[in-house]
Parts: sequence; C-alpha cells; structure tokens
Amino acid sequence: MLNLLFVIILSYLVGSIPTSIIISKLVKGIDIRQYGSGNAGGTNVFRVLGWKWGVSTILLDALKGAVAVIVVARLYLDNIPFNNITPFDDFTLVQILCGVAAVIGHIWTVFAGFKGGKGIATALGFLMTIITVDMLVAIGIFLVVVYFSRYISLGSLTAAVSVPVILFVRENLFGVHIAGYGVILPFAIVLALLVIYTHRKNIDRLLKGNENKISFGKK
Ligand code: G3P
Repeated sequence: MLNLLFVIILSYLVGSIPTSIIISKLVKGIDIRQYGSGNAGGTNVFRVLGWKWGVSTILLDALKGAVAVIVVARLYLDNIPFNNITPFDDFTLVQILCGVAAVIGHIWTVFAGFKGGKGIATALGFLMTIITVDMLVAIGIFLVVVYFSRYISLGSLTAAVSVPVILFVRENLFGVHIAGYGVILPFAIVLALLVIYTHRKNIDRLLKGNENKISFGKK
C-alpha cells in the first residue's frame, strides 16, 4: 500500500507545479492570479499574456497529467522505492488515481497557497493517455462550443460533462469495448463534478451574462 501512496503523493506534487504562475512571473513579473479572471490557468495566461504563452501553459499543464499517468504510475509497477506486495493490482485504477491526484495538485497546489487552476488541461493530459478516442471527441465538442460561444469556460464545462457521456455511449450503444470502462466511468463523472465545482464562478457569470469572452486577436 505504501508504494500506492507514494505514487499518488508524487503525482499530486507533479500536478502542483504552478505553471501559469511561474510563466507569468518569468515573462512579465506578475502574479497571474491578480489579473484577468484571477485563475492560475492557461486560459487566463492566454487572456493576459497572449496566445503563445497561453498555449505553452496549457501544454505544460497537460504534460503534468500525462507524466503522472505514464511516468509516476509506472513506479508503482516497478515497486519503486518500496518493495512490498500489495493487493492493489488493477493498474488502470492506479493510473487514474495518479491522474486525479495530479488534477487535485493543479487545483489546490501546495506550492502556491493551495490556489491553483481549474483542472481542465491537466485532466485532458492524463485522460488523453488512457481514453484517447473519447478525449478527441470531447476536444471536438470543446472547439465547436468555443467557436460559436467565444466562452472558454462553457467549452470546458461542456467537454468535461461530455466525457462520461461519450464513454457510456461508445461502450453501451456503439458496442465498443473500452478497456477499464468500469473503473474509468465513475472517475470521469467525479472529474466532471470537480470541473463544475472549479467553474462555479464562471457558471455564475455565464448565467448573469457577464462571463469573459475570448478574442483570438494577436497580443
Ligand atoms: O479551464 C479554465 C477555463 O475554463 C476558464 O478560465 O480564466 O476564464 O476562468 P477563466
């Protein structure tokens, strides 16, 4: 059990790396949490520092999720550094726990007073490594919603909620056997609820009609 705890904590620490805060500090000497929407995430970096830094932040945040699943979770299998046998055999579950831990680290980062981002890019990065097809469909939904609404938050919310729906439809209606479906679906639902929670202020602004729209102009 110790090695499971080890990979989960390590994943949390990887997710905790406050990419947007570091980039905004290095590029402009500012704390991104005091500008734009106040969110420590790629969208806000995009808004405040322009698309190049926004995209860089999103990619790095996604990388944190992918690293947690591909690199850190792997340590569990290799029994590093604790060489004990555990009853915890389902590796998909270990990968998902590591991915979720990275998302939690991104949202509540220990390196920045537990005030991080909203978890979208990190969740995308980790889920892409496990359910690639479903995530490509979700990214398509995100792009369509953002294109027509100009609200990144609405795109993020729609995409997050659509992931468990896509999984369910592919497995049950299209008869595709998704490896680890029974383990992945409940976590996809939990992540969708988490994303709704982290976007609660955005939802409030969307309902009041004063949410920030994204513009694709140069910066
Ligand atoms: O993923 C974050 C995005 O959905 C909203 O970001 O800065 O508009 O609150 P922001």
